[in-house]
Amino acid sequence: MDLKGRDFLKLLDFTGEELAELVDLSARFKQMKNSGISHRYCEGKNIALIFEKTSTRTRCSFEVAARDLGMGTTYLDPSGSQIGRKESAADTARVLSSIYDGIEYRGYGQRTVELLAQYADVPVWNGLTDEAHPTQVLADMLTIKERFGSLKGVKLVYMGDARFNMGNSLMVGCAKLGLDFTACAPEEFFPDKKLIDQCLGIASESGSTLRFESDVDKAVRGADVIYTDVWVSMGEPEEVWAERIGRLAPYQVNADVMNKAGSDAVFMHCLPAYHDLNTDIGRKMCEKFDRSCMEVTDEVFESGRSVVFQEAENRMHTIKAVMAATL
Ligand code: CP
Ligand code: NVA
Repeated sequence: MDLKGRDFLKLLDFTGEELAELVDLSARFKQMKNSGISHRYCEGKNIALIFEKTSTRTRCSFEVAARDLGMGTTYLDPSGSQIGRKESAADTARVLSSIYDGIEYRGYGQRTVELLAQYADVPVWNGLTDEAHPTQVLADMLTIKERFGSLKGVKLVYMGDARFNMGNSLMVGCAKLGLDFTACAPEEFFPDKKLIDQCLGIASESGSTLRFESDVDKAVRGADVIYTDVWVSMGEPEEVWAERIGRLAPYQVNADVMNKAGSDAVFMHCLPAYHDLNTDIGRKMCEKFDRSCMEVTDEVFESGRSVVFQEAENRMHTIKAVMAATL
């Protein structure tokens, strides 16, 4: 696999083979890290991390992965750079690529990260946009492979808002890597028709299947992975909570859903999750709408079937693989 110089903007830009190799490379980095084997393959390089939205996992993963690879980092926080307000993405890209060897970007529209990549002459990595979260899906695939031994034929059911970054990227990732994907949501929360059509074409070649099902019982029967994400994503206005709870509450992941899925099914979530009242937003919205949790119950989140913290750790190993492969 030669990905040197490539950007990592969305999974659609890569073949299934390339993505599978990135997952395997991540597993090798994980082994090296856990055995204390040094892997400073990018010694002396520097990368810029632009975050126009907040982050715990993605920022920490890029920083630690960069340090393990021998690189320096500069973190530009949501208010700490000129991008968008005083300087265009195109100008920012040309400035940063004259100083840095790679640029990570987390923000709003996919168009911004694509623009950065167009004008930068160093690799640009997508750390989340409204439309895509490709490094998250690599971590999810590593977690699934660790659990089930392979990816092909694994049945993943995504419950909730499947129109946003996680639903989109999981659908593409499953189609490319041969998993069977089901979006389980009210119809208006299914991914964009154009993206679905594109993925159906990819799936027919990889042997994957895609399903769009509003009936929870039908969707989750026989699933290996039940996946969900928050019902209101970063950057969305507070006013949408009422409508989301109204439409998506029947798609909450709870013990009943996990039992219907089958005894070996695991629970996954990109995190952060509103599974209890221990966050400011979670508490406020739960009080307002008289609930104790949102997209997943605390019972499922804390159960032995939940692999969410393994998934979170895998963010670091997979981001390291993306950087090492493209630099
Ligand atoms: N899953 C994820 O991207 O987490 P952060 O928002 O904390 O980076
Ligand atoms: N859909 C979520 C994912 C967070 C990792 C968001 O965009 O806020």
